[in-house]
Amino acid sequence: MTIVQFEHRDGILDLGWGHPLPSLLPTGAWAAAAASALQTYGWKALTYGHEPGPAPLREWIASRTNVQSAECTFVTAGASHGLSLVAQVLAEPGNTVLVDSPTYHYAFKILTDRGLELIPVRAEDADEVGRLARQHRAAFLYVVPTFGNPTGRSLSLEQRHALAAQGLPIVEDDPYRELYYESAPLPFTAGNVISLGSFAKTVAPGLRLGWISATPELVGRLTRIGSVHSGGGVNHTTALTMAEFAGSGAYGKHVALLRERYRTHRDALSDAMNADRPDGGWFLWLRLPDGVDAESLLTVAERHGTSFVPGPRFHVDRRGGSDRVRLSFSHLPPAELTEAARRLTVAIRSVLGQ
Ligand SMILES: Cc1ncc(COP(=O)(O)O)c(C=O)c1O
Repeated sequence: MTIVQFEHRDGILDLGWGHPLPSLLPTGAWAAAAASALQTYGWKALTYGHEPGPAPLREWIASRTNVQSAECTFVTAGASHGLSLVAQVLAEPGNTVLVDSPTYHYAFKILTDRGLELIPVRAEDADEVGRLARQHRAAFLYVVPTFGNPTGRSLSLEQRHALAAQGLPIVEDDPYRELYYESAPLPFTAGNVISLGSFAKTVAPGLRLGWISATPELVGRLTRIGSVHSGGGVNHTTALTMAEFAGSGAYGKHVALLRERYRTHRDALSDAMNADRPDGGWFLWLRLPDGVDAESLLTVAERHGTSFVPGPRFHVDRRGGSDRVRLSFSHLPPAELTEAARRLTVAIRSVLGQ
């Protein structure tokens, strides 16, 4: 009986999946929040919801993100859904969008499903972003600004301002910002920025819950999309449960626990691979020794009982990244991360003929 997306392969300690450690999913606290939402809201928790999302959750998101008011918040079924909706309202089929490179690979299909042409660009190079935006009349730039997937890196304040000065809309996909292991990240960028938030990493991916922070005008356009007009607010019952989970303090406690626990995951994998520790998020973007190609290494690594995602998959058309692999430290406990790293090191040495 297939229930979940992750597929366990016997004998493989898989560093490829950016999924949470199962034992860190808050089953008990969520059950309490669900009971509380039904008690607090009664039938209103189970009927069609207000189109942009229920007020208690929108207000909580607005205060937590600290820049936007509730009118600037639209509740979605996660960041993937948020990107799909934004692509629907900001671009027409045949338009071009600029995509940071390397970046979250599953965003490519969400954008091409809308008929968009993707042009890779380095978001750190704002001048180049501006030049390509003008040349292609790009509808927007897509970037993961904080603890990026796959790089773990964040854009600096100067880089964010330089991008904002280019004039095109910037879609910041920001699901990892609460998972910091050193200091808190930069605040959400104001201005010409549409932010995609998600509870997938901070609470649970199965909730399918997130949000878009944008201008009230854009939120208005989102509420008039046919499926929202017809079906009401997205994942309404789950959204009200999240409002209870957040309002009771369970969210704050849970995120603090995640920071503590995933920090130990990060340290275990970084130390075992002798790699720099990312400041947050779930990924190590490992540079391979000269002469080791990421795609070829994958076959050898799987023979040695581990797996990962090769770097080229995070580049549009797979142009680039053959000297990099993405290792996720979220899904396995520290002892298994250390063993997976040992297997990977043996695989790399065997490719090098050592
Ligand atoms: C950058 C980025 N965006 C979006 C997602 C998917 O988020 P959601 O589950 O909220 O759709 C992920 C998950 O891996 C991600 O890394």
